[in-house]
Amino acid sequence: MAKILDGKELASKIREDIRVATKELIEEFNKIPHLAVVLVGDNPASKYYVSSKEKACIKAGIKSTVIKRTEDISENELIDIINELNNDDSVHGILLQLPIPKHINEDRVINLIDPRKDVDGFCNENIAKLNKGQESMVPCTPLGITRILDEYDIDAFGKHCVIIGRSQIVGKPMAALMLKRNATVTICHSKTQDIKSISKQADILIVAIGRANMVDSSYIKPGAVVIDVGINRVDDTLRGDVDYEDAKKIAGYITPVPGGVGPMTITCLLENTLICYRNIEGGKR
Ligand code: GUN
Repeated sequence: MAKILDGKELASKIREDIRVATKELIEEFNKIPHLAVVLVGDNPASKYYVSSKEKACIKAGIKSTVIKRTEDISENELIDIINELNNDDSVHGILLQLPIPKHINEDRVINLIDPRKDVDGFCNENIAKLNKGQESMVPCTPLGITRILDEYDIDAFGKHCVIIGRSQIVGKPMAALMLKRNATVTICHSKTQDIKSISKQADILIVAIGRANMVDSSYIKPGAVVIDVGINRVDDTLRGDVDYEDAKKIAGYITPVPGGVGPMTITCLLENTLICYRNIEGGKR
């Protein structure tokens, strides 16, 4: 039976450290760390995530501003909002909640975010640095996963890490982080032939494909570490991309849904906000 990787417990431990650190930083710099979140439209999942982020900020002592706009906002109006936040000295982190409406060029808007305020690590400058193995802002979900691996002393050195999913938010940055840890990395995606035979070779299997219960025990090598990034709503319950009950019979370690990766994503957003704050207030270029 697999050991459970308890992201919820780890998140609450780290969030307490963040709360203390925030207090000390406010004393040091005499300014409150401030995250601005831009939410466009009324996607229910996005609204839920943004409200969870807002609550977590408040608990940590970080100021949170949510700027809400309707689905019909123009690209130029959204660009104006980003520019205003870039120029606002009271704002340290800017997060544009994705997805945004199709008529807006997502890449263009994301790349207007000041890289020093890019708490998501989504702009080209931060992506390039991450891929070069340089210090950068790191996307919150992959960063949260590395924190879980560290907490449970799971070493990736020389191990085969299979990532299912090639998104900009999870799959691609996750691959960069695992390469930095000297894992052998394979990325599978929706067009990959015979995902099962590849995922069965994984020592560390990270699933971020967005399909409820897709990965069962037949995809898993006995003893493997299984990280489930999926958050899928099925009949009013939350399900991961991994069939948890079946997978835990064969895996060595497994993250539950909820209570695995999810709480660590928001925790790393708080950490990233403090990193941006320290860099900006400390005068780092
Ligand atoms: N939508 C889903 N996950 C994320 C995330 O980590 N950041 C942003 N900005 N949007 C998201």
